[in-house]
Amino acid sequence: MLKVTDVGKAYGKFTALEDINLEVADGEFLAIMGPSGSGKSTLINILGLLDQSYTGEYLLEDKSYKDVNDNELSQIRGDQLGFVFQNFKLLTTYSVYENIEVPLIYSKKAQHNKHELVADVIKKVGLDGKEKNLPSELSGGQQQRVAIARAIVNRPKLIIADEPTGALDSKTSKEIMDIFTKLNQAGTTIIMVTHDSEVAEYAMRTVYIRDGHLYNDEKSVKNHD
Ligand SMILES: Nc1ncnc2c1ncn2[C@@H]1O[C@H](COP(=O)(O)OP(=O)(O)O)[C@@H](O)[C@H]1O
Ligand SMILES: [Mg+2]
Repeated sequence: MLKVTDVGKAYGKFTALEDINLEVADGEFLAIMGPSGSGKSTLINILGLLDQSYTGEYLLEDKSYKDVNDNELSQIRGDQLGFVFQNFKLLTTYSVYENIEVPLIYSKKAQHNKHELVADVIKKVGLDGKEKNLPSELSGGQQQRVAIARAIVNRPKLIIADEPTGALDSKTSKEIMDIFTKLNQAGTTIIMVTHDSEVAEYAMRTVYIRDGHLYNDEKSVKNHD
């Protein structure tokens, strides 16, 4: 799915990422763990084509998007990637249905059956009957279900989730992780940032970030400290 080679990222004089090497295979479910400020969001912003100003090489399905213009980038993001964030990022004046429909409206993929696609993902995330509600009328867990439905309605190859359970209690977190597990079992590749080790256990593999460096296991993080 993707390959990161010697990637680095600086904010001015501050080095946020250094010497990052990472490969993610099709169908994987990868967790990225690390303390606050370690560089997790910086890394997944690069993986999600939200940030092109890094050093080194990042290939998504063997293609570099470093010199691609913003229009093409947002098209690729909309058609091939699905994003889920800690704070849901729903449109507050749009209903559940309308929030989920948004990516279909902007997509260049031919969509003759928008209504069916939305109805299908609403069922998948268990929000039947909530179509007309506003986000403010839903619980945190329900709002995250809306965000997941919006992320998958275009059938992306890759889901990128930044602390998807960060604002949720542990019971609701489990329900959200069950949805991710089902999506992964159906073939979607998932990369998820979390600092909750119980949440990371749902992934097939975990990598660790500490001070902008990536480690493949906890032991090598400890050796570094
Ligand atoms: N836009 C920015 N400008 C300057 N520094 C930033 C910016 N974004 C993040 N940083 C810094 O980079 C480091 C990594 O941030 P981030 O990737 O958000 O960490 P995490 O997601 O692991 O909490 C932090 O020290 C943060 O303060
Ligand atoms: Mg972060």
